[in-house]
Amino acid sequence: MTAGGPETARFRELLTRVLGFQLDAGRTPALHDLLVERATATRSGGIDTYLMRLSQTGPSDPEVRALADGLTVTETYFLRGADQLRAFSEVALPDRMGAQRPARALRILSAGCASGEEAYSLAIAARAVVTDPSWKVSIVGIDVNPSALAKASLGRYSTWSLRETPADVRERYFRPDGREFVLDPEVRAAVSLSFRNLIEDDPSFWRPDSFDIVFCRNVVMYFTPDVMRSVIARISGALCPGGFLFLGHAETLRGTSQDFHLRHTHETFYYQRRESSDATPPSLPPTSSPQPRAEAPCATAALDDISWVSAIGRASTRIAQLARTSQDLPPRTPDAPTRPALDLQPAVELLRRERFAEAMDLLGALPTTSEDDPEAQLLRAVLLTNGSRLREAEQVCAQILSADELNAGAHYLMALCREHAGDRGAAAEHDQMAAYLDPGFAMPHLHLGLLARRRGDLDQAGLELGRALDLLAREDASRILLFGGGFSRDALLTLCRSELRACGGGSW
Ligand SMILES: C[S@@+](CC[C@H](N)C(=O)[O-])C[C@H]1O[C@@H](n2cnc3c(N)ncnc32)[C@H](O)[C@@H]1O
Repeated sequence: MTAGGPETARFRELLTRVLGFQLDAGRTPALHDLLVERATATRSGGIDTYLMRLSQTGPSDPEVRALADGLTVTETYFLRGADQLRAFSEVALPDRMGAQRPARALRILSAGCASGEEAYSLAIAARAVVTDPSWKVSIVGIDVNPSALAKASLGRYSTWSLRETPADVRERYFRPDGREFVLDPEVRAAVSLSFRNLIEDDPSFWRPDSFDIVFCRNVVMYFTPDVMRSVIARISGALCPGGFLFLGHAETLRGTSQDFHLRHTHETFYYQRRESSDATPPSLPPTSSPQPRAEAPCATAALDDISWVSAIGRASTRIAQLARTSQDLPPRTPDAPTRPALDLQPAVELLRRERFAEAMDLLGALPTTSEDDPEAQLLRAVLLTNGSRLREAEQVCAQILSADELNAGAHYLMALCREHAGDRGAAAEHDQMAAYLDPGFAMPHLHLGLLARRRGDLDQAGLELGRALDLLAREDASRILLFGGGFSRDALLTLCRSELRACGGGSW
């Protein structure tokens, strides 16, 4: 058996089935070694027998726990993501206390709690907010890695785990013991820990209205898009309407779920479950395309991210394919269409040739169903923006965003419209949302840089323009066509460099 042989490939498939992971080709030698190790440790009598047995195991099987021990990334620390913890304390907790006043109980889940630092940080933060003893705050920490959970239940931590913990919090909640720190027993008692594999659907645990707030940070980035979709659906089903979901900063729900509103406070993003009275937009069709990631954890994800889905966003996939020139990357297989595709190609061609009015006429001649078609609507908004019809463009963007709040392209165009209307605050807000939702999208950073320079914030301008310069070099040709305002990549790079020089960034 060789590392790149069919056994390792089968092992990778089975790991995706039992743990949900997307494991890239770069990990093949490590997977091969783990396969040999587990086949030997389980005395399976051979690789084939081990693989056959693994194919019959469920997500909670002891062998899956052993594999999780060898494969999961458990890096974490106390008070990680201080901005999100402030949003938790100052927005989510007060909001949920308002909603749960009759019951006087809050339930919080740390999904993928690793060695417990996140769950205990939530307990520490909640103690400062929920001071009335008649309230009960229960925190549940779940994880698939048994060693991490064992460490969590000990409640003993090194200085490394406390590297972001201010001295006063350390003194109040930890007792030094040799080279370690022992967590306050009352904080420990507020958290219950258990083994749970997020890919397993256990209706007794994932009951509707079970949690007010869920933290699931730096977990779903390791999953395949389909697994991420089903895990988020499970979490969404168990959250109370109006409940909050916090993901890691490199994880977004774009293209994954329509169950949530995007919230942006305390310089961070998080989600709030739609109330049942909210109209939930139609759910997204299944897709084999990857969720875009800021820091893709593996090489396969990075390769797949060349797809047009991550380039422009789900709602504009088809436009992106149409906008592709012959020199661009080879076409990817389109997702299964959910409705008869409108022919947008002629309008895209006219956009390429900057014949905006004619392109609009073509769009106007499409069947009336095009008004519900997100791709046609986004193209319409692009054309209206390029044709300086920004009020109309804004209306179209508002329609797109009311159906899909997580459409990065529509947020970016909305930013241009708001700036034109003199509302620079809202413009920056939409740019930030676009940049968060699609971490590879250069234009919102360029626009944020220009806005910052105009208000005299040269440090911020330098940061955003530097980011834009970096992303523009790799930006997809189709996205430059759609969102570059008629400029070529080179022209946009030149603009970025000269703006950076004007901000004092001499080396550009
Ligand atoms: C990088 S840690 C994140 C810890 C913490 N949430 C944070 O952000 O600091 C990821 C954790 O997710 C857990 N995890 C990965 N896949 C899981 C699954 N299928 N079910 C439950 N936990 C999982 C890992 O075992 C690991 O402890």
